[in-house]
Amino acid sequence: MNEPIAYHGAIFYFKETATIANLPINKDKLSDQDTQYVYIEDGVLVVDAGKIKFAGNFSELKNKFPGIKVVDYKNKIITPGFIDTHQHATQSAIVAAYGDKLLEWLDNYVFPSESSYSDKASATKDLTFFLDQLVSNGTTTAVSYGPLFYEASDIFFEELKKRNMRFITGNIIMDENSPANLQLTTQVNYDNCQKLIAKWHNKNRLSYCISPRFALACSGAMLEMCGALKKEHPDCYIQTHLDENLNEIAAVKKLYPKLKNYFDVYDHYGLATDRTIFGHCIHTTDAELEAFKKTGAIISWCPLSNNFLGSGLFNFARALKYTDKITLGTDWGAGNCLSMFAVLDDAYKVSMLNSVKLPSMVRWYMATYGAARALQLHDKIGTFKPGKEADFVVIDPNATPYLKYRREKVSDIFELLFILMTLGSEENIKATYIYGECAYLGD
Ligand code: GUN
Ligand code: ZN
Repeated sequence: MNEPIAYHGAIFYFKETATIANLPINKDKLSDQDTQYVYIEDGVLVVDAGKIKFAGNFSELKNKFPGIKVVDYKNKIITPGFIDTHQHATQSAIVAAYGDKLLEWLDNYVFPSESSYSDKASATKDLTFFLDQLVSNGTTTAVSYGPLFYEASDIFFEELKKRNMRFITGNIIMDENSPANLQLTTQVNYDNCQKLIAKWHNKNRLSYCISPRFALACSGAMLEMCGALKKEHPDCYIQTHLDENLNEIAAVKKLYPKLKNYFDVYDHYGLATDRTIFGHCIHTTDAELEAFKKTGAIISWCPLSNNFLGSGLFNFARALKYTDKITLGTDWGAGNCLSMFAVLDDAYKVSMLNSVKLPSMVRWYMATYGAARALQLHDKIGTFKPGKEADFVVIDPNATPYLKYRREKVSDIFELLFILMTLGSEENIKATYIYGECAYLGD
């Protein structure tokens, strides 16, 4: 069993020192000093007992690991798995719902569908299917909203444990502006959270995430309860939605006229921390971003969702003035694809609409090592430093006839990443490995 295995292919990963600020923007700026990534065309990755043992030149393998078993991924790229920082594990049934913006979309599609998670058999089927889809898209870690009900959330954690995934999730919490059957009292939610934290937080590769849906679906008492939970369990994560839609923002303002702004509502209840992931932040003002910066919180930019729901255009350049903790999410449900390639493609297009040319390296970083850093998981995942957990994907850049044709015109890693992000899909994921085990193998 636990013999080391070598994977032979092109190797691409970021150096530990990489940040958005020091990444080369384009090939003209490349020099030995500012190269913050490793790309070895004839490379090898050696994995032993779930951990990275070595990443380097294939020519070194014979000497370093004589007689080692070699898996051939020649002409493919071996790279750390994608990290999706915002998704709803419960929304597979309503992707591609016609015609509504956020608040109506929640009422007409999301809430009725999420009710089905009170049934354990249907919850198991949906969640298993969802995770199969996620892994076949090359995503190995995610920050995910789990089901509202305790039993279904427990099933989700159980399924994640089986797959040995590094994952951040929790039961979604709400008690207002939603159907009565989806409103659990503050006490019931508190008890459910405590049980799930005791059973799953920091167990295997799992972290618990306190998950108030958003200020409109939670009473002040519920947000206060979430703040109290965070105080009791300071290393738990928090996730919620912020400044996604103009009608949502106006409604929050009405509910909390005395607080400074939407961000201030979460801050007021102790929910803005350096382990909080705020989904969207499209309409966030400079005053909000100034306060945001002080808390060290994390942005999850979800361009697929923002385009689908017509929510607005995230302004990367403006946000970057305040924080470099900008990560990417599918927001599956509203986002219509689980592939981070699609998210990366829309991130580029949205930025172009804001006249910002978002570099390939910066985008790829945000979907991998940058997310690991923002989530404080960079000692565990995100690069191929020996000792880190072996979550990686094998990408076939020739997966379709057109890509094969287009690749012949590509001269460097920048262009290669760019065409993958623009033209790539699930079809390009040849294999996904989780903690050194093959979790998905394509044709
Ligand atoms: N805001 C509150 N709930 C949701 C949700 O499920 N999806 C999105 N996109 N925004 C939300
Ligand atoms: Zn969301």
